[in-house]
Amino acid sequence: MRRASDSATANIGLLSAGGYAAATAQGSFCTGTTCIITKIYDQSSRHNDLTIEGAGGAGAADVGAPADALPVTVGGHQVYGLEISAGMGYRDNSTSGVAVGGQAEGMYMVTSGTHVNGRCCFDYGNAETNNMDTGNGHMDAINFGTECWFSPCYGQGPWVQADLENGLFQSDSGYSKNTSNTGTGPLPFVTALLKNNGQNHFALKYGNAQSGGLTTTCSGAESSVNGGGYSPMHQEGAIVLGTGGDNSNGSIGSFFEGVMTSGIPTDAADDSVQANIVSVGYGGATGSTGSLTPGSEISLRATTSCCTGDYIRHQNDAAVISSITSSSSSLDKNDATWIVRRGLADSACVSFESRNYPGDFLRHYNYRLYRQPMDGSSQFRQDATYCPTTGKSGTGTSFASYNYPSKYIRHYNFNVYAASDGGSNTWDSATSWTDDVSWVVTSPWAP
Ligand code: AHR
Ligand code: AHR
Repeated sequence: MRRASDSATANIGLLSAGGYAAATAQGSFCTGTTCIITKIYDQSSRHNDLTIEGAGGAGAADVGAPADALPVTVGGHQVYGLEISAGMGYRDNSTSGVAVGGQAEGMYMVTSGTHVNGRCCFDYGNAETNNMDTGNGHMDAINFGTECWFSPCYGQGPWVQADLENGLFQSDSGYSKNTSNTGTGPLPFVTALLKNNGQNHFALKYGNAQSGGLTTTCSGAESSVNGGGYSPMHQEGAIVLGTGGDNSNGSIGSFFEGVMTSGIPTDAADDSVQANIVSVGYGGATGSTGSLTPGSEISLRATTSCCTGDYIRHQNDAAVISSITSSSSSLDKNDATWIVRRGLADSACVSFESRNYPGDFLRHYNYRLYRQPMDGSSQFRQDATYCPTTGKSGTGTSFASYNYPSKYIRHYNFNVYAASDGGSNTWDSATSWTDDVSWVVTSPWAP
């Protein structure tokens, strides 16, 4: 990664060979400044490392992703995923061992259904070596998003699709033949898998990366739609991550891990990979609850007499308070659970990451609080940073906005704001302000 303060770079290694990333080294290297990911190291002996993608047929040169946008827990360790916003992407146009010209290959990634859009093209896999669209069959990459290239698609998505160039395929005919393939919805962690014998057959599978097995949504002959050219394939052997083959880069997405193989994996190997991913425990409990120490999972309970059973939760992307009890649905409990992170603008303060929308944080906008994906901007970092202090009513904790320090996280009419004690906005009302800005930090509702 490269930090903004002095442009110095650092490699973030592993805690042990084959183990977890040493995320605390990242934390100390980037303290007091911001970092972007400049290189993603291939963990195999091929050294097909990815660097920030250059200009292509459909997009200007990309920028690097913020290094701290996607803090997640894996197997109880805090590490960072890669969060791609529009204009970001990684690539290696000079690889070794990657399938070319109709050779067989397989690939999977762990991604997220919570951070997707319908723009081209959040891809991971085989692409052109010149960042241009060189024709049908010149790509063989997993695509994940809500873009329906060949109608019909069913449900809202996002779908695991094959980007075979000039088309995102859900079947051998392009469009979905599978009415039950409605996509993953906002699953926080998704396994997405594509394999292609390079000649006349490909298959797509997906699974919940936190539990269960894989579902095959397509297994069929290469398409003859779109003018043909997909059988045999014409892969060029570059690796792309986060954009289309021609660097179409309007898409967003998340990436936690991925592998490409030369040769086609067996179904049994696919199942073993999924079982291993599940056993590792993405998004599992951090092991710390109920405190404001980074990594701790919490819920935030209101203390005003109206509302002592109400907690801050997100609903339709905005923050509200509502009653949560032990019999509330799992969705409600997850919506009301936050992971404390080092403050995105000041590590002496805190930020609150959503438990069920990895990489989304509580931030204020026009002084109202929302759950939104971290975009790396200084504005977002400030809007998402809150400095804890003793509760203004004498109970619990109050949270001052980092960039508007006289405004505190407050509930008003069941919505949540950054509010001052008296002021021009209705939610700045001085009536019950001290109670409304005082919160009890509790154990998390989510298991
Ligand atoms: O196949 C979909 C997209 O079409 C490719 O990713 C891109 O190269 C082209 O614009
Ligand atoms: O919430 C107040 C301000 O509104 C935020 O700082 C900014 O993101 C928006 O303009």
